[in-house]
Amino acid sequence: MSPSPALLATLGAILALLGFGAWWLLHVTEGAYVGPRFVVWLYDLSAARYDRIKDLRESEEAIDLGVPLAELLLADGMAGPDARVLDVATGTGRLPIALLSMPMFDGKVVGVDLSARMLELARAKLVVAEMADRVTLLHHPATPLPFDGRSFHAVCLLEALEFLPDSDACLAELYRVLVPGGHLLITQRIDRQARLMPGKAESREAFIRRLEKHGFVDMVRRPWTTLYDQVWACRPNER
Ligand SMILES: C[S@@+](CC[C@H](N)C(=O)[O-])C[C@H]1O[C@@H](n2cnc3c(N)ncnc32)[C@H](O)[C@@H]1O
Repeated sequence: MSPSPALLATLGAILALLGFGAWWLLHVTEGAYVGPRFVVWLYDLSAARYDRIKDLRESEEAIDLGVPLAELLLADGMAGPDARVLDVATGTGRLPIALLSMPMFDGKVVGVDLSARMLELARAKLVVAEMADRVTLLHHPATPLPFDGRSFHAVCLLEALEFLPDSDACLAELYRVLVPGGHLLITQRIDRQARLMPGKAESREAFIRRLEKHGFVDMVRRPWTTLYDQVWACRPNER
């Protein structure tokens, strides 16, 4: 006996639903609703392909990240040998490499990430680029950060906020470890799929309001990729 059309339609609907669920869980949200261990496990699995998937090119990263950050720090007299920059969720070392390729930046970078595989790749790339002595890589979650308050002249968080278990706690930590007058570089996911991440993605206006709520000032949005805008901000100077 062949299955009835109603049964076939039901099976088809169940398969489509499962397919959509898997696409949403693994591709759109990268496991963010399951928890940090799952997110990091997915990054460990895909680390070797990360730079290729993202099509990361060091020359473009230098222009889009290294130049504006180094220029800001230089303008504020924070680009000398004592300058310290923190990159949370540093991944395969995109930000440290972009910044340290700038001759006007003489400082050091600390990169934090919870994926051991992503950090291994970052370490290998930094060695090849002869930058390893200027970067400390820490296998550590984004919150709480293991640093004293006011210890970095700039803090960065690229393409990661929406995957963290508590993004407000992370914003509070980024503010805490930044020196007064220091710079924040963060990204906001802006593609249409971001609408499928309730509670993890928000409107452009709401994101700026959230940064304000955490105390940041002087927000400047720079369109970057099809997925992310860069948002630059500062911790206010104290009088
Ligand atoms: C999309 S990648 C971004 C990497 C890098 N910032 C870049 O722009 O290429 C997200 C990174 O966040 C890290 N990550 C995810 N959850 C984390 C957590 N709770 N604590 C620290 N790092 C985390 C992942 O391991 C991964 O390296």
